[in-house]
Amino acid sequence: MAASSSSQAPLLEVENLKKYFPAGKKQILKAVDGVSFFIARGETLGLVGESGCGKTTVGRTILRLYEPDGGNIRFDGEDISHLRGNHWKKMTRRMQMVFQDPYASLNPFFTVGEIIEEGLIIHKLYSNKAERRERVYQLLEQVGLSKEHANRFPHEFSGGQRQRVGIARALALDPDFLICDEAISALDVSIQAQVVNMLMRFQREMNLTYLFITHDLSMVRHIADHTAVMYLGQMVEYGVTSELYSHPAHPYTIGLLSAVPVPDPEYCRTHQPAHLQGEVPSPINPKPGCRFCDRCPRATERCRQQQPEFTEIAPGHYAACHNL
Ligand SMILES: Nc1ncnc2c1ncn2[C@@H]1O[C@H](COP(=O)(O)OP(=O)(O)OP(=O)(O)O)[C@@H](O)[C@H]1O
Ligand SMILES: [Mg+2]
Repeated sequence: MAASSSSQAPLLEVENLKKYFPAGKKQILKAVDGVSFFIARGETLGLVGESGCGKTTVGRTILRLYEPDGGNIRFDGEDISHLRGNHWKKMTRRMQMVFQDPYASLNPFFTVGEIIEEGLIIHKLYSNKAERRERVYQLLEQVGLSKEHANRFPHEFSGGQRQRVGIARALALDPDFLICDEAISALDVSIQAQVVNMLMRFQREMNLTYLFITHDLSMVRHIADHTAVMYLGQMVEYGVTSELYSHPAHPYTIGLLSAVPVPDPEYCRTHQPAHLQGEVPSPINPKPGCRFCDRCPRATERCRQQQPEFTEIAPGHYAACHNL
């Protein structure tokens, strides 16, 4: 992909990332198969696509919870794809993840104070317990909780409060980059808005960069500077959010967006709804050609034979389709 259209240099650049899982007798599940994108510092990239398309695997591979099977990950100009030992440990301070289910990701046997403090101990950030505790209290207050909460256990909190704990833990090490993987999907709508507004405020105050993974296309429209659309392990479209939502190019993006209420009468007048037909095929040993072709209203013989390249179709707007 070309350089970012934004004035800021990318904080994260992912190029041709691959993550495959073995799936029995000579079968390979291509969860992420050649994905490229970048995120400018201080921006939010929304990553969307149907369940199983590889969004979480992208996030986990960037953080090297999975080892990549191909491609490069550059962070702040440095290739981090193969960093090891202390170099990698230092880098992990700068990249944190907020998970979908805070209940599953918070150790039930630790108090909230201990959970937030753990990273500070691992990274030896403060010389004594009193200083660490002060930092924990400060973080709790930052996320709208109070220092009295430090001695309670995760089960004593509501879903929204637990997600605030998850965010406090992610912020403890003063990171530059947060991956929020369906971080608000499980919460009530009113709580979602509170948590999202808090994340947006932190972004402004701390110049944080977000990869925001979600099924919620309305939320992405609201918060993301750029949006990336994945289908079956590949990126099919990427662009400035307002441009991608007003002029979606890929038939898959058009199908996804047709299910989202659009507050633009002009768009509704000029675009026929194009609801997605059929099921997502298996990512195990995918067929050659375009992965979307069996569900695509525009598919031709060429689409069945040849995989489309991810190309720039307008400044900063990319898509992978033979029929644009
Ligand atoms: N650890 C793993 N081992 C084997 N297969 C995996 C593993 N993790 C994910 N997969 C498979 O990789 C594909 C992509 O999964 P992934 O969880 O990344 O999708 P997703 O887009 O995050 O879906 P969802 O929206 O449901 O969270 C799926 O087919 C999934 O079954
Ligand atoms: Mg997921």
